Amino acid sequence: MTTAASKLDAYWMPFTANRDFKANPRVISGASGHYYSTDDGTQLYDMFSGLWTSGVGHCHPKIVEAVQKQVAKLDYCMSFQVTNNKAIELADRVTKMAPEGIDHCFFTNSGSESVDTALKIALGYHRARGEGNRTRLIGREKGYHGVNFGGMSVGGIVPNRKIFSAALIPGVDHLRHTLDIARNAFSRGLPEHGIELAEDLERLCALHDGSNIAAVIVEPVAGSAGVIPPPPGYLERLREICDQHGILLIFDEVIAAFGRLGAPFGAQRFGVTPDIITTAKGLTNGVIPMGAVLVSDTVYDAFMQGPENMIEIFHGYTYSGHPVAAAAGLATMDVYDEEGIFEHATALEQHFEDLLHSFADQKHVIDVRNFGLMGAIEMAPREGTPGARGGEAHKKCFWDEKIVVRNGMDTMQFSPFLNSKPDEMEQSFAAVRRVLDSIE
Ligand SMILES: Cc1ncc(COP(=O)(O)O)c(C=O)c1O
Repeated sequence: MTTAASKLDAYWMPFTANRDFKANPRVISGASGHYYSTDDGTQLYDMFSGLWTSGVGHCHPKIVEAVQKQVAKLDYCMSFQVTNNKAIELADRVTKMAPEGIDHCFFTNSGSESVDTALKIALGYHRARGEGNRTRLIGREKGYHGVNFGGMSVGGIVPNRKIFSAALIPGVDHLRHTLDIARNAFSRGLPEHGIELAEDLERLCALHDGSNIAAVIVEPVAGSAGVIPPPPGYLERLREICDQHGILLIFDEVIAAFGRLGAPFGAQRFGVTPDIITTAKGLTNGVIPMGAVLVSDTVYDAFMQGPENMIEIFHGYTYSGHPVAAAAGLATMDVYDEEGIFEHATALEQHFEDLLHSFADQKHVIDVRNFGLMGAIEMAPREGTPGARGGEAHKKCFWDEKIVVRNGMDTMQFSPFLNSKPDEMEQSFAAVRRVLDSIE
């Protein structure tokens, strides 16, 4: 075994077919703007902007500089009982961008931690108000809320849950998902059919009694399950039902927040304000791991009771509000503002939609879905080997066309940079077409 191969052997990769990968590794060693590079100098166009993370491009000079300065000035400070100036500034900045009434921010280090934090806040909120019986949590089939026990339990992606089935947290139920290829295939933007699926929440309120339900968590547009936009009116209806039953609504905006849907938050794009918003990824442009849970005044105020010398929520992370991450976050917010990134993203939507939907008559393709700058091309699985066609397309894109795309089973997913250039989008989709043409 060569040194490189044995080193690779030590690395157990996340959400990756390790043995298949190690037989032919795809290793990135550099990035700049919209391109990755490898040690041999190959440039690859990134069609997934990191992992939905890096909307303004890789190694943005302004963010790099902010991180370099901060790490030399304050590398770390205790996050409990003292804090740092950058965390304070970022909390203020982000809540000012959030929908009205969402004025408080709790920092985490990832999307998964944001979700579990949000679920704990929801339970604590009800208990603080004397409704400690509200413990039931409602997620949705095909929802992805990270990989910690809370998020996995409210999540609805079967392979993520399968081997942990017996250990998932109790008292969770799920709404049905809204993917309906039979009725909605090739919808541009929001699909016409399915608003009635919001009534599932009424059904679950009838089953468990709404007074026992603490919170409902959904992604405004399901991402990891293959880009599933909601039917028009669906999120509004969930909000109404939550209000009727005193249930908190959580939007998991780990993907949607910070411009992916052309607005600071998906909540604003849809005109529906939840009680809690979870974020990560675009908070720092992916440069330093960081997440944030944004909560309404009502939720926050419920905790701010009792003796003032007492901790209100026994929860937090060593790295909550890490100064270097917060500096990256502040620089990212500057770039969003100064470069008009969200407006740019909105202006790209139509072109992105047209490019995606030009695959409607491509062989194997059974659906194309898009909203904002989230897109998916779903292919029929090969008989007996689901996921093989998508996996082959991913690898061929990398090796033959020098583009990085993501496949979730047989669904190709696309997360263009918020500041993509139209000609880059055209060229990269032309490359995807050559790949899809070439696979059986
Ligand atoms: C909606 C949503 N929630 C939570 C997560 C988990 O985030 P992380 O991988 O940072 O833990 C993701 C990751 O893609 C996500 O898309």
